Amino acid sequence: MDKIVINGGKPLRGRVDISGAKNAVLPILAATLLTSGRNEVLEVPQVRDVATMIHLIVELGAAIEVFEDGRLVLDTSRVDNIEAPYDLVRTMRASCLVLGPLLARLGAARVSLPGGCAIGARPIDLHIKGLKAMGADIRLDGGYIHAFADKLRGTRYYFDTVSVTGTANLMMAATLADGETVLENAAREPEVVFLADVLNRAGAKIEGAGTDAIVIQGVSSLRPLSCKIFPDRIETATYMIAGIITGGAVEIGNCIPHHVEALILKLREAGATVEENGPVLKVSRNGKLKAVNVQTSPYPGFATDIQAQMMALMTVAEGQSIVTESVFENRFMHVAELRRMGAGIAVRGNTAIVTGTKELSGAPVMATDLRASASLVLAALAANGESSISRVYHIDRGYASMERKLSALGADIRRVP
Ligand code: EPZ
Repeated sequence: MDKIVINGGKPLRGRVDISGAKNAVLPILAATLLTSGRNEVLEVPQVRDVATMIHLIVELGAAIEVFEDGRLVLDTSRVDNIEAPYDLVRTMRASCLVLGPLLARLGAARVSLPGGCAIGARPIDLHIKGLKAMGADIRLDGGYIHAFADKLRGTRYYFDTVSVTGTANLMMAATLADGETVLENAAREPEVVFLADVLNRAGAKIEGAGTDAIVIQGVSSLRPLSCKIFPDRIETATYMIAGIITGGAVEIGNCIPHHVEALILKLREAGATVEENGPVLKVSRNGKLKAVNVQTSPYPGFATDIQAQMMALMTVAEGQSIVTESVFENRFMHVAELRRMGAGIAVRGNTAIVTGTKELSGAPVMATDLRASASLVLAALAANGESSISRVYHIDRGYASMERKLSALGADIRRVP
């Protein structure tokens, strides 16, 4: 397993450009199963989760051409396999996104239950309940979901908790159902809005995406999809914090500032400088940072996927910061590792109390999940001395060319086998 070695303490300077949003690509790839023809997706990021989803879509019968420039062409005319196997689903929970499209397109699906993951139980009970409400016959057997539906029918469905992929799954299934579906307490993430826009351009009838009530009129078929993936808001947030935690000045190009509004306000509250100029964000910091409190919530709130990175920043801020994780039940795996670098953090349930220290010191640490590993990289960039981060495959799931992008900003970072 590879490690990343970082010699910290160097202010980052220069420009970094953001890659396509992983969490926008995954539902789009699943949505191609709703169509029968050549779908084209541009600006696809080179990250492991996308490779896993491509592998799954090919297993289901699609023919895929991958081009160097991030362009994908997926021919889904011969999709005929209904099984998403355990060995794929267990490595990436977002594989469950094929459930709705397979049911809508082929009338059957056999998808492995995702199993738990580092940040929590992460069941898909709300996905299953919604598909049942649309008339699907669903049984759980041998760790698999066995689902059948001659024809899904529209329904009114309320999400007990806001679920991003739950909303995407049911929205996709509803595009080919009989009649009208209303999804209440729906997720409002940009990735959901994007999926609705792309589906509408292929002939779907979806209204209200971006609000908590999405209305879908079923149609008989969709044209192949064609879209360009928008920049990744979590990658944007990560490089913003990298510039600030190292006391540098970083320009982030090809981003959408509006998607990280909650973070921008928090960083300014902490005393950082954040300038917005169209698709470019400039971040810098002069003097000490002040500790601020953070509470994660569904979009447009402070994203849970940025919580670990923000906590890393708060470990070197002045004062005490209270970080509350309201979305997942166990998303503090980075705390023990940050403590190894000298961070002062106490955890009480889903709240972490961070007491800022003057500086962190480099240490060997271990990545546990995608965003926790980003948090460790950020802390290592700020720490005095050398840090090594093991299990970097977690980073590769969601960050394209992280070492290259950070080296270009002046970081002393290298990957060792
Ligand atoms: C999406 O996961 C993202 N993944 C996650 O990003 C992100 O952390 C999460 O949304 C929250 O924003 C993708 O989009 C591929 P949820 P998802 O369903 O859809 C509970 C990353 O780092 N829940 O919105 O799986 C669930 O346990 C990843 O890129 C149920 O109880 O998350 C959680 O506590 C990590 N039953 C909460 O809802 C369900 O059926 C929100 O989960 C579904 C969810």
